[in-house]
Amino acid sequence: MPLCLGIESSCDETALALVEDSRLLGESLSSQADIHALFGGVVPEIASREHYRLLDGLLNDLLGRTGRTLNEVEVVSVARGPGLLGSLLVGLGFAKGLAMGLNVPLVGVNHLQAHLLAPGLTQQLIFPAVGLLVSGGHTHLYYIKSELEFELWGRTLDDAAGEVFDKVAKMLNLPYPGGKFIDMFAQAAEPDQRLFPRPYLDNQNLDFSFSGLKTAVSLYLADQAGLVFRQMPTAGEVSGSPDPALARLCASFNYSVAETLKIKTARALARAPEAKSLILAGGVAANQGIRASIARLARQFGLTLLLPSPELCTDNAAMIAFAGERLAKAGYRHGLDLEAVPRGRSVPWDYERTAPAA
Ligand code: KG4
Ligand code: ZN
Repeated sequence: MPLCLGIESSCDETALALVEDSRLLGESLSSQADIHALFGGVVPEIASREHYRLLDGLLNDLLGRTGRTLNEVEVVSVARGPGLLGSLLVGLGFAKGLAMGLNVPLVGVNHLQAHLLAPGLTQQLIFPAVGLLVSGGHTHLYYIKSELEFELWGRTLDDAAGEVFDKVAKMLNLPYPGGKFIDMFAQAAEPDQRLFPRPYLDNQNLDFSFSGLKTAVSLYLADQAGLVFRQMPTAGEVSGSPDPALARLCASFNYSVAETLKIKTARALARAPEAKSLILAGGVAANQGIRASIARLARQFGLTLLLPSPELCTDNAAMIAFAGERLAKAGYRHGLDLEAVPRGRSVPWDYERTAPAA
């Protein structure tokens, strides 16, 4: 209890999921990646229209595959930001219509906090925790006191980790979003640990800055034009056996990102000796090198590692339904005046409070 419908439409994934008792009953997800790949990045207007076109069909599909009816839904939760404003508004309009029609509570969910809670779908969450969120739009370090209390300790000053992966992939003329191809190529070689810098470590803060690393890769490639794909392959054409020099470049770049994330996360852990777990979340948490390096760090500090499966790392509605269900249980909800929060603005804690569920 309660049966919670989650809706995700903050970027280029349209998804709906049902969660009950913190358990995922099913999800219907459609990625627009192929459409946006034609333009080399997400086109906001196209994304909004696609969400609008897809939501109804995905809802029917979800109900069909879980054997549940709309009338059984007890809470409607929706990603309310940060994200693309138009895309969020489509999801919010859909969620509000459903909540009003079904006469059930509406819960707006912070997309970033949902990413960090996603491991709770398969593992017991343990607090306090230090959380590293690495996605296409964010590289954030959090101190997480409970599933409702998040303190932002560090953030990227420029490009997010996923953005650097995608931009390096673009330099290589790989299709968007190319982070997963760099990861795949990196598996085929050992990194040269001195090839690229580990940026922005010579300071006392927990922030990140990846633009220097991006420039270093671009300067390296200026002398190594042979590594760039002459013609952009389709995603299906990218092979797992790259040219050895290309594999080494990707392994070395991947290593620099993984090490930088690990070192700053270790500094955060040193400031939180009471922490019991380390959470790694967001699309870039699907990266094998980063998963291994953060897992080693958790072992070093004697912490439980909370790491979602790769499908729960990238944008999905299961995490929105899970966070929504927990909030609803604790008595948090929104009115129909719930607002979307675009990227770059912080998401307010503006819930209405009711009695927690028994
Ligand atoms: O969390 P997410 O799905 O969407 C945002 O909220 O941004 O993250 C998407 C990002 C993209 O930049 C994508 O290239 C990156 O996650 N990504 C990866 C991998 N899989 C997805 N980056 C590196 N290695 C991967 N295996
Ligand atoms: Zn995300």
